[in-house]
Amino acid sequence: MIKYLDLKKINDQHNAEIREAVSHVMDSGWYLKGEATRRFEQHYAEYIGSKHCIGCGNGLDALTLILRAYIEMGLMQEGDEVIVPANTYIASILAITENRLVPVLVEPSLNTLQIDDTLIEAAITPRTRAIMIVHLYGICAYTDRIGDICHRHNLKLIEDNAQAHGCHFVESVYHGDCPLCEQRCELQGDCPRDTHSAKLKTGSLGDAAGHSFYPTKNLGALGDAGAITTNDDDLAKTIEALGNYGSAKKYVFDYQGRNSRIDELQAALLDVKLKYLDAENNRRKEIASQYLNKVKNPLIRLPKTERDCVWHIFPILCERRDELQQYLTDNGVETQIHYPIPPHKQKCYKEWNTLSFPITEQIHAQELSIPCHQALTDEEFNRIIDLLNAFYPKN
Ligand SMILES: Cc1ncc(COP(=O)(O)O)c(C=O)c1O
Repeated sequence: MIKYLDLKKINDQHNAEIREAVSHVMDSGWYLKGEATRRFEQHYAEYIGSKHCIGCGNGLDALTLILRAYIEMGLMQEGDEVIVPANTYIASILAITENRLVPVLVEPSLNTLQIDDTLIEAAITPRTRAIMIVHLYGICAYTDRIGDICHRHNLKLIEDNAQAHGCHFVESVYHGDCPLCEQRCELQGDCPRDTHSAKLKTGSLGDAAGHSFYPTKNLGALGDAGAITTNDDDLAKTIEALGNYGSAKKYVFDYQGRNSRIDELQAALLDVKLKYLDAENNRRKEIASQYLNKVKNPLIRLPKTERDCVWHIFPILCERRDELQQYLTDNGVETQIHYPIPPHKQKCYKEWNTLSFPITEQIHAQELSIPCHQALTDEEFNRIIDLLNAFYPKN
């Protein structure tokens, strides 16, 4: 059987280094908010290209803490709206409703599978405070148009980067010697200076980003872990306190906070795995390009995007998805569906159950995720390609 994801094999590639890092934490006798956490936060902030990184319990907490911090800072209040893609994983939406904010669902594009940026402006109301983009499947969801909408409507841009560690947005207009250096140039095509492109990592594109290190993620822990990245000093300070019972100073509580911390063991081993993330993402890209070039079956729609992608998931669409999944299982290939039921059809959001999001529903009805990870061998992905090309159901 070709497994969908072989976590043991993936983590075994760093077995000795992970064991050494774990031993180091055990020997230190310090298990929370210590050296390992500080080191990982610093390295991850550098990797993403943001000023601050604050570790937390998991990816859902990361997004929840960002919104909660904006509420504590007086920038959002109950009933304010946050625009979010309708086809996201439920956690993005849970973070919004947990804060008594209102998610406004926007359809994705069938080509990019990301929020359709041409539909966002129509969803803006006087209560809109933020757009939460989700780099779903590891594909960059950010566009210049989204940045521009946030700027013009004074909206916060929050990134859900749970699935896209290491992904880039390639900015085409960026002036190295501009007085606005390090910022997006307002002049766009009218600027007399030379232009060049810059690669900015997802997680550094907006006001704040939530990251998940759930074990299956491209950068995965051996348990739950998450982080927030931001350049905003006040936001970082507020989030840090909120995740520590609301306290910045021992036994002094400024907020009714929660306990959401990354532990030293997870931070230490994530720091080991971070060194290999780019190489591992490159292997995912290599496999994905084989799928994109060699799978030729009119029944199968491959992801069609020019954007950078770190292929957390390789999603194919097929009208006969369930038959395709059964066929692959019968031929020894494990697959998954991301995700079988869209958020607006879930029982937990029953007030939305009658709403219609046709593109989202199509994706959820047709999506099938095929193996695409760093431990997959050439022989394995070639077998998957052959099987996909040979899929022709009888009727
Ligand atoms: C898009 C997205 N957002 C948020 C999360 C939540 O992360 P976690 O499982 O670490 O809470 C996940 C993953 O599980 C996810 O895929």
